Amino acid sequence: MTATAVDIPLFTLEGQQAEIGAEVKAAAARVLDSGVFILGPENKAFDAEFARAVGVKYSLGVDSGTSALELALEAAGVGPGDEVVLPSFTFIATATAVSVLGAKPVFADVDPETLTLDARSAEKALTPKTKAVVAVHIYGQPADMDPLLSLAKSRRLALIEDCAQSHLATYKGRVTGSIGDLAAFSFYPSKNLGAAGDAGAVATNDARLRDLVDELRNCGRAGGGRYHHVRVGHNSRLDEIQAAILRVKLPRLEAWTAARRRVAAIYDEGLAGLPLKLPPLGSGMSRPVFHLYTVRCERRDALAEDLRRRGIGTGVYYPTPVHLQPAYAALGARAGALPVTEAAAREVLSLPMHAELSAADAGRVVEAVRRFFR
Ligand SMILES: Cc1ncc(COP(=O)(O)O)c(C=O)c1O
Repeated sequence: MTATAVDIPLFTLEGQQAEIGAEVKAAAARVLDSGVFILGPENKAFDAEFARAVGVKYSLGVDSGTSALELALEAAGVGPGDEVVLPSFTFIATATAVSVLGAKPVFADVDPETLTLDARSAEKALTPKTKAVVAVHIYGQPADMDPLLSLAKSRRLALIEDCAQSHLATYKGRVTGSIGDLAAFSFYPSKNLGAAGDAGAVATNDARLRDLVDELRNCGRAGGGRYHHVRVGHNSRLDEIQAAILRVKLPRLEAWTAARRRVAAIYDEGLAGLPLKLPPLGSGMSRPVFHLYTVRCERRDALAEDLRRRGIGTGVYYPTPVHLQPAYAALGARAGALPVTEAAAREVLSLPMHAELSAADAGRVVEAVRRFFR
């Protein structure tokens, strides 16, 4: 028996390529013709344009979301012996960014509705060694930042936002990435704003932190001297070609985000009443951007298999919480340590989502899910 081909994939760049492929190629060609490949005019322009979109004073392009997290944490002063509190319900890079600095990730549980860091659980995880807290706006759902801001302020901790999945999501009217001390963005190709390869950015309103990240991403250089290095840094710069490509896409991000929200609304209406937990659509001035539209289902694996047989792709983000990953076995976490996170990891299933997904295809997904429960 041959497996059914997936004709509604979880994600595809085909539609985006059809819309802007020619412009992307022209942008890349412009850089190739210029001969300026590193920290040139495309970086400068993209930094300004992205900062404006996020509503921050400064944004600096870097070579991945992982680097963005590492640089943000390092600029916040995280180093050997420190602890950083973060959710376990995230992509592992949020934690490894802490570990590579010689600090210890301390995992806290998430809110059952948004699956983002629960401030009460974060507070319980604090010790005198805690230096920073990282909130992850997972799936594009804004974390409840006000209690985290109060906690960070009262304990003098840095608050960092992992915005890898939340470009343009708003929390009480503020764009995610403009709320904490520093924010890390990923422009991995499948993100809501994606480059043609690895790319990321660090955003902040603090001029001192901006300058520090600038030095850290560029071999510790400061003040223009090519061979003058004021600190031990990294080579984490954003390529000019990627900056130029991101500049083609950024002006479309609002429209693409609106299209994702329309798909989410179709799912929300069509899937109501089923034995599924649906993600929050947002209320008032807090609005998710549906990097992923993720439902929770007790029979998750059976549903995924049934949809696959009907030609519909799904994904599980993420099947194993970070505290239970072999990479973190040495921290000694046991199953059951973070019950909300672990229950979510057993039940989450992401349905097809991208800006070009047609209403008809979203309707087919709804129909297929409804049929599974009949
Ligand atoms: C929540 C989260 N944090 C960090 C990252 C790391 O970003 P990148 O893949 O660009 O290094 C990702 C992307 O996969 C992510 O989803």
